[in-house]
Amino acid sequence: MQYTGTPVISSTGLFTPDESISNEELVESFNAYVELHNAEHADAIAAGQVTALEPSSVEFIEKASGIKARHVMAKGPILDPNVMSPRWAERPNDERSIMAEIGVKAALQALERAGRKPEEVDAVLCAASNMERPYPAMAVEIQDALGIEGFGFDMNVACSSATFGIQTAADYIRAGNARSVLVVSPEITSGHLNWRDRDSHFIFGDVATAVLVEDKVMAPEQHWEILGTRLKTVFSNNIRNNFGFLNRAHPESASNADKLFVQEGRKVFKEVVPMVAQMICDEAERLSIVPREIRRMWLHQANAGMNRLIAQRVLGHEASADESPTVLDTYGNTSSAGSIIAFDLHSDDLSDGDIGLICSFGAGYSAGTVFVRKVG
Ligand code: COA
Repeated sequence: MQYTGTPVISSTGLFTPDESISNEELVESFNAYVELHNAEHADAIAAGQVTALEPSSVEFIEKASGIKARHVMAKGPILDPNVMSPRWAERPNDERSIMAEIGVKAALQALERAGRKPEEVDAVLCAASNMERPYPAMAVEIQDALGIEGFGFDMNVACSSATFGIQTAADYIRAGNARSVLVVSPEITSGHLNWRDRDSHFIFGDVATAVLVEDKVMAPEQHWEILGTRLKTVFSNNIRNNFGFLNRAHPESASNADKLFVQEGRKVFKEVVPMVAQMICDEAERLSIVPREIRRMWLHQANAGMNRLIAQRVLGHEASADESPTVLDTYGNTSSAGSIIAFDLHSDDLSDGDIGLICSFGAGYSAGTVFVRKVG
């Protein structure tokens, strides 16, 4: 087979956890925690030494974010007002890790859809916003579980991990270093969300996605040409997680709140919307794509308001659900997996020649664009 060095997306895969938490269930649990906390500290609150906690509300969550529910890997302990964190039994080293487990499920679906055998794949990138451990790399465990030869490594660019992974995979193919690369994004975001923080307890959900990036010559008849990729990072403290092996944390302790996800949501909103809209417009111009040619935008799924504004700035009009589909309502923010879920669930109906955009943005700040054209 004569390889072309032209990267395409051959297929995607999606693993969705069975369990889901509605806003109503989430708020009931959060407010039970608030009542318990305020009762326990009643004297200190009355003396002005401790600030009383405020309840959360379903209406606020839906209005501020567009999120109605989120899938999770461990619903019971998250909703238990005395735990409020995912919990599962610690796995011995000879048992598959939880991130690898869900990553493999998404990867197997991508392989099956492309009719690809594991031995034909050259590399696995595990691209996600948090890794379960520093090493051995999650990607190497996923590679081993799938029976893939070659190599794998982990990469973390927070919510942009998957698009950065797609460009990295595409570059391997352009350079001839690989012909078939799996980009796997197992996002167990419930583990780094502070479920006791009223400002953000509703944001995240768990999922795993996989994207198979290949040389055009070996791709299935129906695939997505990668027209161009562009990455950008600009340092910001407005979305931050300080957890690390140099500062082992106890998530239950309030003083360790910065060892979980923290953000200045309003600043993120104000700064990221113009940055990403401009980046998309510049990249479209570089690729000689005019806005009306963009049939669909699969945007990062963090907040419905942000997506509305970004799509409007790019398209020049309010985007319809067909032009900019959302999965926020049922999945919540799934970090780097969000735009890939949207692409996976809302791309079959596009026609041969249609142009679309996969776009991510998030902590770092980081942003990535992948313009694609449907073939077949
Ligand atoms: N329930 C009820 N009220 C709440 C609440 C909750 N869970 N959380 C906050 N509020 C209140 C606040 O106390 C505030 O009340 P006040 O006006 O009386 O002070 C009010 O709601 C508005 O809070 P604010 O934080 O300013 O809301 P917002 O409209 O800016 O929305 C975000 C908050 C976080 C949803 C929004 O800023 C956002 O989505 N930003 C971008 C986030 C993002 O994409 N991050 C990337 C993550 S990877």
